[in-house]
Amino acid sequence: MSKTVAEGFYNDSRLAKAKELIKEALTEHQASLTSIRPANPALKESYDSLLKKVADFRGGALFYNYLGTGIGNGPFVELADGSVKYDFITGIGVHYMGHSHHGVIDAQINGAISNTVMNGHLQQNVDTAKLLEIFSHQACKYGGEMKNVFLSTSGAMANENAFKIIFQKRSPASRFFAFEKCFAGRTLGMAWVTDKAAYRAGLPKTIDVDYIPFYSADDHKGSIDRAVYAMKKMLTRYPGQYAGFIMELIQGENGSWVGNTEYFEALIQVCKDNNISVMVDEVQTFARTQELFAFQYFKLDKLVDVVTVGKNSQVCATLFKDDHKPKPGLMSQTFTGSASQISAAHYVINEIVTGGYLGKEGKINKLHDRFKSNLEKIAKKNPGKLSGPFGIGAMVAMTTFGGDEPKTKAFTIKLFENGVLSFMASGHPTARVRFLMPVMAVEEKHIDEVCAVIEKTLNEME
Ligand SMILES: Cc1ncc(COP(=O)(O)O)c(C=O)c1O
Repeated sequence: MSKTVAEGFYNDSRLAKAKELIKEALTEHQASLTSIRPANPALKESYDSLLKKVADFRGGALFYNYLGTGIGNGPFVELADGSVKYDFITGIGVHYMGHSHHGVIDAQINGAISNTVMNGHLQQNVDTAKLLEIFSHQACKYGGEMKNVFLSTSGAMANENAFKIIFQKRSPASRFFAFEKCFAGRTLGMAWVTDKAAYRAGLPKTIDVDYIPFYSADDHKGSIDRAVYAMKKMLTRYPGQYAGFIMELIQGENGSWVGNTEYFEALIQVCKDNNISVMVDEVQTFARTQELFAFQYFKLDKLVDVVTVGKNSQVCATLFKDDHKPKPGLMSQTFTGSASQISAAHYVINEIVTGGYLGKEGKINKLHDRFKSNLEKIAKKNPGKLSGPFGIGAMVAMTTFGGDEPKTKAFTIKLFENGVLSFMASGHPTARVRFLMPVMAVEEKHIDEVCAVIEKTLNEME
């Protein structure tokens, strides 16, 4: 006898049968999506008119002529022009599991047949408890203390919540440190944190942020000294006014530039000496190094106060230590995520931590090594056209044409036309091409095929 009506419903054998049928149909239909396919000329007219409709209604064209049909097969995705592409950017690092993943669809169906579309901070179903628990346990597994988890629906909102928590704790301090060329999201607050003038053109000032130069592997000691000096100089100028330091440990939007433990420790020491909270923005780095959290990879567990996650986690979140708990009234939102999203988030995170992706010998590192060595070979053959460094883990990046921005943009568009989705990082003056692969779905042979398309595309460029 079921303890609740829901238990009886979820265990009804008809549901299991229905899910089996869906899986069977999906397997059959997705089976043909196993390689790059050009667009179907017969669909050109309808596709172009769909693209135009989207551009008209959203007030501007899309970066790529990309409109998906809603089906894919691992790293392959079908577009509405009939083409099939390798997805090596995954919506800028979201579809870790690839396209039409059976386990994820199963998890989403469980959410979809529950009583509501959305869960929220006033009304959450039991799946939320499982999700909070896995976030919290994983964040604390090496001695970290960020056991409190607040869910939200975007990375920018997770960051907003982190800033609110920190400002309240450090009130009346009102300034923040951030890294030069960082990206923190698109809200009015985060537009003033992101170090890019174009992203806040015409917006009223919200937060006072001072920028510290990011780590440079070419000048390890010099970059540490310069960053510490810059912090101390600003602390002399604005004593007692800094509430926090937001750190992207690997700069994603800027082109996958990798930090360093000694560098972070030196800056965090200055934070600790001056009562400044340490916030790590892992919206992009979550599950992309050999550890679930990049702060664990850099061994900063004991030093971080607040961390934010998003993208791969499917549901975004702000995690914080007990001593950063907000006062009642500071935080709440209507939505925490859809029921399907929450169910899928638990599935995906659980799979990442149990499925052999993490660790020195895990799949993430293996894929990276393969990608890097292939790119090194192409770079050797094409000196002025391609160079490294090539990122870390499942954040692979490369410099094309010496970082020339218009050429790099043209390259990504040509690569798209040739069947591979990547994205440009426009960290002026050194633009880069980056890849955020669907780790669960990618095999080494896929990387080889993608690299062949990269090389062909480079050769097609002037
Ligand atoms: C480091 C970082 N922080 C925050 C964000 C913002 O996340 P969202 O676009 O979900 O608001 C992003 C998105 O690219 C990011 O890379």
